[in-house]
Amino acid sequence: MHPLETLREEALAEITAARDEQSLEAVRVRYLGRSGSIAAWGDRMKTLSKEEKPVVGKLLNQIRTQVTSAIEQRDAGFRAEKEAAALANIDISLPGTPGERGALHPLHQMLERGIGIFRKMGFALADGPDVEDEWHCFDALNTPADHPARNEQDTFYLEDGRLLRTHTSTVQIRTMKAAPPPIRVIAPGAAYRRDEVDATHSAQFHQIEGLYVDKNVSVADLKGTLEFFMRELFGKDTAVRFRPHYFPFTEPSFEIDVRSKALKGGEQWIEVCGCGMVHPAVFEEVNKARNDSAYDPSEWTGFAFGLGMDRLAMILFDIPDIRLFAQNDLRFLRQFA
Ligand code: PHE
Repeated sequence: MHPLETLREEALAEITAARDEQSLEAVRVRYLGRSGSIAAWGDRMKTLSKEEKPVVGKLLNQIRTQVTSAIEQRDAGFRAEKEAAALANIDISLPGTPGERGALHPLHQMLERGIGIFRKMGFALADGPDVEDEWHCFDALNTPADHPARNEQDTFYLEDGRLLRTHTSTVQIRTMKAAPPPIRVIAPGAAYRRDEVDATHSAQFHQIEGLYVDKNVSVADLKGTLEFFMRELFGKDTAVRFRPHYFPFTEPSFEIDVRSKALKGGEQWIEVCGCGMVHPAVFEEVNKARNDSAYDPSEWTGFAFGLGMDRLAMILFDIPDIRLFAQNDLRFLRQFA
């Protein structure tokens, strides 16, 4: 037997005999290490004759591969034993730790219900940013610079002159700028005002804005749409009242109150929405921005509304204080899960 073959037998025997990872590592160093026996044979190659060289070289390569893979196998065996030992005492029939189940926030539930009703009537969803510029929030909505709504006391201004939108009516403008009529959209989202915070006022609140522009849209359409909405939400015997009001961007304008036996407060009228027919000045301002006359007020009419979703949720779920929506108290939130 060639001495290299003897070396191989010894190495393989020692690998088999290794009792643990440490003694296996010692074997590896002894044979495969930089000053191990196999490396020593590599150095000896130079001294061999032309005839011997290829024979020994081939054998040496073979042995190196064999010893390496034998060590890897033995090592994998040790690791498998360790894992098996670690798992031996685990009772896999024990129940696991269940993850806590989440639920939608009551305001979110309210928004989804509202959106669902409008979708039935063919309204599409529109969107706009919470951080707005004054033009979209006021100027384009026929609200001049000296209007009280633009007062610093009422509005959160950023240092660069932008602001947190005070209503979702900004999305009316963005929608009309982006597409010609007809338009039938709703835009759910947050709005912000510097209100004194109390049980019914919050600096951040939520609205569903609606905009419908087409030929021959009238107050009757506005009325039918919002009455249908309130009855879907609060029940068939809900009474809906339109009260004359003023908004710069609608004419005529209304506020809507609802009353229903099913509601808390019973026979009391509760204000839930501002609305009206889109003011021609708004169409004109949009045309200017679009650089066309797509919204010709002699051709198109429309209605718009802004529903107070926090209000509606408070009525629907009988919630006494608007601050509960933002306090993150699980005792409150769990009641709606
Ligand atoms: N933007 C008004 C508000 O926040 C509501 C409104 C929307 C009124 C659309 C008329 C038309 O009070």
